Amino acid sequence: MQRRKFIKNTGLGAASYLAGSSLVTFFASCTKMGMMNGGDMNMMGQSQPVTEGGFNKLLLIPGTITVNTTLNAQESTANINGSTISVLGYQVNGLLGPTIRAERGINANINFQNSLSENSNIHFHGLKIPADMDGHPKDIVNPGSNFNYKFTINQRAGLSWYHPHPDGDTASQVFKGLAGLFIINDAEEAALNLPSGSYEIPLIIQDKRLLSSGITYYPSMGEVMTGYMGETIIVNGIASPFAEVKTKFYRLRILNGSNARIYNLALSNNADLTIIGNDGGLLKNLVTVKNILLAPGERIDALVNFDGLAPGSEVFLQSNAFNNGGNAQGTQGFKILKFKVTQTESDPFIIPAHLSSIDPINPTLSSRTRNFIMNGMQMSGGMNMNMSGIHRINDKTFDKNRIDEAVSANTTEIWVFDNSQGNEPHPMHLHGVHFQVLERRGGRGQLIASEGGYKDTVLVLPGEIVKILVPFAELKGIFVFHCHNLEHEDDGMMLQYQLV
Ligand code: C2O
Ligand code: CU
Ligand code: CU
Repeated sequence: MQRRKFIKNTGLGAASYLAGSSLVTFFASCTKMGMMNGGDMNMMGQSQPVTEGGFNKLLLIPGTITVNTTLNAQESTANINGSTISVLGYQVNGLLGPTIRAERGINANINFQNSLSENSNIHFHGLKIPADMDGHPKDIVNPGSNFNYKFTINQRAGLSWYHPHPDGDTASQVFKGLAGLFIINDAEEAALNLPSGSYEIPLIIQDKRLLSSGITYYPSMGEVMTGYMGETIIVNGIASPFAEVKTKFYRLRILNGSNARIYNLALSNNADLTIIGNDGGLLKNLVTVKNILLAPGERIDALVNFDGLAPGSEVFLQSNAFNNGGNAQGTQGFKILKFKVTQTESDPFIIPAHLSSIDPINPTLSSRTRNFIMNGMQMSGGMNMNMSGIHRINDKTFDKNRIDEAVSANTTEIWVFDNSQGNEPHPMHLHGVHFQVLERRGGRGQLIASEGGYKDTVLVLPGEIVKILVPFAELKGIFVFHCHNLEHEDDGMMLQYQLV
């Protein structure tokens, strides 16, 4: 949905031309459009409570394919919560797509077939690949057409993912089911002998809003403010699933593939989550936590140990309530996935204390600092209401014909995301590069356990100012950077940088 289309679809087209007119007119049009919610428009956003399911369906693991493959985006069906509904997927009978797995150094040739009735494309989120292969929002593939994504995988082992990125339609296509994992392996990782095979569990956590007919995507104005959330939590496409485990270490490779919902992941028995990696691959050293925030677009690589639990024990991966989640998030705790311990088995695995040889980049290498102010809705000037472009960066919304930042190749820069005046969380994401998180002031006031090493998405909560250190290499071309709350992104909270 284009930003302007949102206005049309909600019947609020007039509102954007009402500069200076009264809020009363605006509310009247909302009422007419049935957007009033029990008499309360909830201008500041809408939360969507989670309804927990029964945790009686077996967790499925997406099938694995190589990098020489076809991905066919299509209208599909899936059985979620006992009924067969229409979804979007890269496969027949199911939402999501297979997991692409590749060794570092290999050449990928991914033939994307767009069998949807709307524009789409594929963005490889987390991959450092040339701009014309990156699924830039302007590089669309028409319905019925195809495109070959060809690139060399030249980066550290890690968990990335792929999803559509057509300008204005990203949020609806991802929400309806289009996403998949992209795992890169390398020698450094292999040397650690981390839990593998059935002990390495990829988890795509998403929330969906389900009707008997399908996944509904129809954000109200309040939901453009906060992001669109669902009442049903699905993991790898299964609502409230369970997984059977032995009394061993497991490696959970977790993607938050939700449009807007942030999870505060924890185990119900208060056991440790041992964080060994994040968006950009392995951390230098492990960090042990009891809970960790994971925002849309972010990934964590976590070891959990079921040793010592009696067969029959149940442990849940859950999301705990958290503070400072803006107008719609953090107030509710809920369960996500049940682990059922079925078998005792001794485990020779010892967590390596040292994981990777990466080092912090020296901030004095930075040749330039760029500041980005996260803007929320502006209600100044007699309550002018412009109902698109509510979310902005430096007061701008996305324009594919405008280069916002020109960056020199092979330089390092400090970028500052300033949400000190904002009241919504913004997971900020850069294409084409991995960065290090340098500092957080305000809000949580510090870096969290998963923010060491390299990242491509960093969560900036209300009140926070986050500084990142970005080593731009030589992938010349035009890339976007944006908020990965996909409603914010589609609303225009996305700019472009050109590496020259
Ligand atoms: Cu995962 Cu530009 O996005
Ligand atoms: Cu991306
Ligand atoms: Cu945002």
